[in-house]
Amino acid sequence: MKTKIIKLDSHTADTEGIFMAAALLRAGEIVAFPTETVYGLGANAFDEQAVAKIFSAKGRPADNPMIVHVCDAKQLKEVVSEVPANAFALIKKFWPGPLTLVLKKSAKIPSNVTAGLDTVAVRMPSNKIALALIKECGFPIAAPSANTSGKPSPTTAQHVYDDLKGKIHLIIDGGLCEVGLESTVLDLTKGRLVILRPGKVTAEELEKVIGKIVVNFGFSHANTKEKPASPGMKYRHYSPKAELILVTSGKDFSEKVFELGAGRSVGVLSFSKEVGADNEFFFNENLDSYAKKLFAALRELDDRGVEAIIAEGVEAKGLGLAVMNRLHKAASKTV
Ligand code: TXA
Ligand code: MG
Repeated sequence: MKTKIIKLDSHTADTEGIFMAAALLRAGEIVAFPTETVYGLGANAFDEQAVAKIFSAKGRPADNPMIVHVCDAKQLKEVVSEVPANAFALIKKFWPGPLTLVLKKSAKIPSNVTAGLDTVAVRMPSNKIALALIKECGFPIAAPSANTSGKPSPTTAQHVYDDLKGKIHLIIDGGLCEVGLESTVLDLTKGRLVILRPGKVTAEELEKVIGKIVVNFGFSHANTKEKPASPGMKYRHYSPKAELILVTSGKDFSEKVFELGAGRSVGVLSFSKEVGADNEFFFNENLDSYAKKLFAALRELDDRGVEAIIAEGVEAKGLGLAVMNRLHKAASKTV
């Protein structure tokens, strides 16, 4: 299969390209498209066979459920069996945007979308192309991130192409994703409110709207024995080919880079000050920029063939919590 890439302007969401993508989705095919967080690999959320194609293209384990993307309240009601009162306040404040809510699923959602769970993860993306595509289709779109399972999520069409060429018909290129990390996932179906994955919408912002929230995701790796709260949490994620070493100790980061990198080719992700190394991505105390370019930097450093990547940790609060969550999951060790 030949994989076509069509470039659309994410501000105007050109209709020809949207028509072409919607026609494929209507025919039961899968299509990669941009969202404000990362690129998604979409299928008609009501079409079990189309959804099955996503699992095989990504090599995704069948027990990892995916997010359903909607464009309006009517679609939300088709996807979930009830919308609890606290969900309304969150939707009003954060949708469209990078917040995913886990709610009780409706009977219309096939069980492979939710990996057999009776809950469904749902969000309304703010990216204009994503919204226009869902609207044109007239059905919600189930979409995990459009990477090969285990690899860093894609933030450009080229990343999607590198992973999925020959496996899908179409990639809509909407440029570099605005946020760069996947959406915040919040579970509203338990007695307590639980963040299953931190993201751009922070715990602090959520608490202002709905009160006390429990944060339940580890900084641990795949091989932990605990039962994960969210199926996706048990898989190794975001792994570059190079060994990633996360530096969290207080010692001067430049010295650490020198120590750890001695005698081998390394890539460096620095935050507080520039080290002056080859293959360095310096984020200059800008968390938004660290989040936006983290996955792209991991892929770029792999392409350059470095043996190790040394990443500077940040304070685990606000968006820093999401950045640290992804770094820990990608890291082979923390020093
Ligand atoms: O920003 C995003 O969320 C992107 C874009 C494309 O929207 N999507 C994305 O999907 O990151 P994915 O499949 O890579 O991650 C979905 C996460 C997984 O960790 C999965 O386990 C969790 O959401 N999840 C999905 N359904 C769930 C459910 N019913 N209960 C608990 N966790 C669920
Ligand atoms: Mg993913």
